[in-house]
Amino acid sequence: MARSKIITLSSPKVSIIFDASDNNLVIRHWGAVIEYQGADLQAATTKSVAKSGFDEPLVTGVLREHSRGFLGHPTIGGHRNGKAWSTYFSLAKVDHTDSTLTAHFADVSAHLNLELSYQLNEFGILKASALLTNTGSDSYNLEQFTYWLPLPDRANEVMDFTGRWSHERHPQRHAIRYGLSTREIREGRSGHDYTIAQLALAGNTEFAHGEVWGLSVAWSGNSVHHVERLATGDISIGAGELLEPGEIILAPGATHTIPSVIANYSDEGFDGLSHNYYRWLRARPTHPTNVRPRPLTLNVWEAIEFDHDSEKIKAIADAAAEVGVERFVLDDGWFNLRRDDRAGLGDWVVDKSVWPQGLAPIIKYINEKGMEFGLWFEGEMINPDSDLFRAHPEWILHEAGRTPPLWRHQQVLDITHPGAYEHVLNQVDAILSAYNIAYIKWDHNRVLVDAGHLGQAAVHNQTAAIYRLFAELKKRHPKLEIESCASGGARIDLGIIDYVDRLWTSDNNDALERQMIQRWTGIAIPPELCGTHIGPRRGNQTKRTTDISFRAITALFGHAGIEWDITSAEPEELAVIKSWVALYKSKRQLLHSGKTIRVDHPDSNSFVYGVVAQDQSEALFAIAARDMSDSTFPAMACIPGLDPKKIYTVKVLTGAGNSKRMEVNEPAWMLNLEGVTLSGVELATIGLRPPILPPENAILIEISGAQ
Ligand code: DGJ
Repeated sequence: MARSKIITLSSPKVSIIFDASDNNLVIRHWGAVIEYQGADLQAATTKSVAKSGFDEPLVTGVLREHSRGFLGHPTIGGHRNGKAWSTYFSLAKVDHTDSTLTAHFADVSAHLNLELSYQLNEFGILKASALLTNTGSDSYNLEQFTYWLPLPDRANEVMDFTGRWSHERHPQRHAIRYGLSTREIREGRSGHDYTIAQLALAGNTEFAHGEVWGLSVAWSGNSVHHVERLATGDISIGAGELLEPGEIILAPGATHTIPSVIANYSDEGFDGLSHNYYRWLRARPTHPTNVRPRPLTLNVWEAIEFDHDSEKIKAIADAAAEVGVERFVLDDGWFNLRRDDRAGLGDWVVDKSVWPQGLAPIIKYINEKGMEFGLWFEGEMINPDSDLFRAHPEWILHEAGRTPPLWRHQQVLDITHPGAYEHVLNQVDAILSAYNIAYIKWDHNRVLVDAGHLGQAAVHNQTAAIYRLFAELKKRHPKLEIESCASGGARIDLGIIDYVDRLWTSDNNDALERQMIQRWTGIAIPPELCGTHIGPRRGNQTKRTTDISFRAITALFGHAGIEWDITSAEPEELAVIKSWVALYKSKRQLLHSGKTIRVDHPDSNSFVYGVVAQDQSEALFAIAARDMSDSTFPAMACIPGLDPKKIYTVKVLTGAGNSKRMEVNEPAWMLNLEGVTLSGVELATIGLRPPILPPENAILIEISGAQ
């Protein structure tokens, strides 16, 4: 056995140990921090030679190749017109620091070079990225590249997220069985059904405890996520871009940048995992809360849809200013022909039939009311009924002369075409240059099918083009904020996050649905990036009626806003909105910087969750009854995360309105309006007696004044 060269990348809580030996790069460990490596790690982990097996111990490196005897899902697949279909990469060189490792591989037969890099940051987030170069004299057709990380044998469950329009990110969890557990997205955007992160679990993982390994492709196009358990016993997790046939063909000498993946590990449950993601994202200088506090937003979509009546919009603006809204967003319907969803996409010029003097008067009106202005676009789309389509019917993604089936009466504009890209960039840029626009909501309302450009699959290039376009818009308009929306939450992923400042979590503003959607979007995305709006009394999608206080408390835990015609609100509702807006403003610093805690509450009919300041000086929690509790007196709400030794003042906040009760009087602690005092350890281990709430009601608890 050749001498192994052990290289460890470590952060305070996570280590990854590589072994560069025998012309191979093997990961011996990815998980909890290990400070010391025994010299015999290789010997300790090497397999025996089994009967009816290869005559040498099988070693699985970071590149999983058939040529080395690996029989599971490979890392790379491709060919040169049927040749060079099997690779054998040799490890030429490894460069590393304490936090990065770059392995240079070469396959002299397949004529490929691969540079594979791992970067572990201080928050325990591991980013893997790769560059593939064709060193041959003919084209190489890359069919797939999946990054894989090994899991220990104790990883016994897989959890991922599924969903559909208005019902995003619902968890599904099951045992890791033999074979592949795979989630594929083929809709050309991350999708409502996108998993955000594929998770492997060990130790009955819940929010507060247990091990969890997460992997996500940092990409907004097609994707694949796997967990694999082989008959050999090996368990691993993999992710990558999903490629259509012929999508990536490398010309001789060409280098292809393979979309990266983000790996995350915690032995402190789902909350620990989220904490790592949040700390990493919040450390970015461009993270929105590092620029300014997140403005309370009102979006007019659900209030008016396509009815752009300026008097009505002004009336909503008056009401918005009155309650303290800081950003007012004009949604779909402001541009040429867009009187409904059948026409106009592609022509980003103001519709003079509804805005005869352009948008300047309404923007001035809104600015004078003390609010900034935001505007909706859907630049990657085109309606056949548009001037753009009439001029360039060829500028749609399509294959073999076929027209893809319409979806919401629209096609996908081929922004891999330089002319189409320039058209969108210039028209959007012209609007942003002409008007005082602080923010754009960028929608993407249909899936990509048959998405070809000049006979070649084009989802990869389309995704790269939208990243380029966002970057260019921000370069030209440095203060511009962009929201990623896609029929609600269908483009929320760890790739788009580098280009946008807000994610529209869902088109479903029904608070009961939102409790679940926001809880699990929060697995990877911190609350300040998730748009959370108070919707109308009767939810537009579910038609369920919920009280203002439940909607207000639910919408508080995010980048809060309003999606409702508040000119129709009752005076009592307006009073609640006003005090809720003030509450949001006073708590947003805590809400957008603290540690999110989702309590492992024994009563599954209620959610208990909140945010604790990083210095444990204060916290804000909610108890939300989603359904009837099974017992008369709901289970005690334990509130972890505070300093066990400190004494806090605990009281109910009514700034988001008063919820209903199913009791004659409240638990004693709630009757004391000044609050009661409890230590952090008492809150965590004994907890608070919740009131008896009817379903779809919640309370807010303020914990402050640490002594
Ligand atoms: C879908 C979005 O999710 C909505 O918020 C709204 O912007 C509509 N599109 C407008 O067409």
